[in-house]
Amino acid sequence: MVDQVASDTRQRAAPLRVLGIETSCDETATAVVDARRGLLAHRLHSQAGMHADYGGVVPELASRDHVRKTLPLIRQVLADAGLRPADIGGVAYTTGPGLMGALLVGAAIARSLAWAWGVPALGVHHMEGHLLAAMLEPRPPRPPFVALLISGGHTMLVRVDAVGRYTLLGESLDDAVGEAFDKTAKLLGLGYPGGPALARLAEHGNARRFRFPRPMTDRPGLDFSFSGLKTYALNTLARSDNDTDNIKADIAAAFELAVAETLSIKCRRALSETGLKRLVVAGGVGANRRIRATLSAMAASLGAQTFYPRPEFCTDNGAMIAYAGMVRLQAGQRDPLSIATRPRWPLTDLNNPTGVAYPLLPIFSSEPSSN
Ligand code: KG4
Ligand code: ZN
Repeated sequence: MVDQVASDTRQRAAPLRVLGIETSCDETATAVVDARRGLLAHRLHSQAGMHADYGGVVPELASRDHVRKTLPLIRQVLADAGLRPADIGGVAYTTGPGLMGALLVGAAIARSLAWAWGVPALGVHHMEGHLLAAMLEPRPPRPPFVALLISGGHTMLVRVDAVGRYTLLGESLDDAVGEAFDKTAKLLGLGYPGGPALARLAEHGNARRFRFPRPMTDRPGLDFSFSGLKTYALNTLARSDNDTDNIKADIAAAFELAVAETLSIKCRRALSETGLKRLVVAGGVGANRRIRATLSAMAASLGAQTFYPRPEFCTDNGAMIAYAGMVRLQAGQRDPLSIATRPRWPLTDLNNPTGVAYPLLPIFSSEPSSN
């Protein structure tokens, strides 16, 4: 009875420390955030090496590896933070979008631990995690802002007025940007994951030797289409009789420049149309240096500011899930005991039907936001 009372109290109280668990794709990641002290620790295991032999993520192997790695990474992150399970007030986990089996592993572990520890658990939207990752930086953005979310599975422009108040401005009609990077890298003979490898090769290339299209920039609107760029890369490669590394590096550089300028044109439009002066870039492709430089220069020309998570928090990580979970748990959101995943889950489904915004926790800012 006493235990039940203690458990109910822990379930209802605003959690001070949240454990975050990310298992949506090919990274197992954990983190602990503290409502007052910010990010205490984070751990990540990448399965990239395991999937490289197959040229892409093998869902069944991904799930099995999450089964092996999640609990050890939870133990490690607690040890890094100097915490015991009793110090954790809530568990946040990625509930979607992502690979069904991979999501189920994290959801089952998170839900079971939360139940055993007598604390609330909350399923987090992976893209909301990405969206909020910049809040973990010393100079966090303040809503309203425009967010460009560019990952392996999604390309979205979103107007963010608050947590839980999202307006989709545009999205990719076919391949996501990360997918375009990965497919183009594959046809250039680069390993998996292709994005970072292509970016490294592009550093040695001449971006002006070939002129790739800037898809859908010649018509109004904020949607994207990236699937044509890989075909363009394939045709360019096929036309080059001399299949040397230099040609590949030049194709990589021209591809990367085309992506960067296309994103920049659409972001410029989104900023102008919304009248907003802050652009947040997140998701794995947000780690790309040329894309960052191009977007920062464009925003500066409009008198707007850009915000990026550090590169390791652009790609999948546990810290963003712990933070997004913390914001919602602190606002009183709780999930039922059932273990549910949502492999497909539109971001706008998160819009709070009451219209009340979840307050952002300014706890992680070591400096005040500059405007
Ligand atoms: O956000 P993320 O880690 O996972 C998903 O939610 O999809 O994004 C992974 C994507 C992959 O397509 C990967 O190739 C790409 O981000 N990526 C990059 C870079 N680092 C990761 N693409 C271009 N340049 C990079 N530096
Ligand atoms: Zn991601």
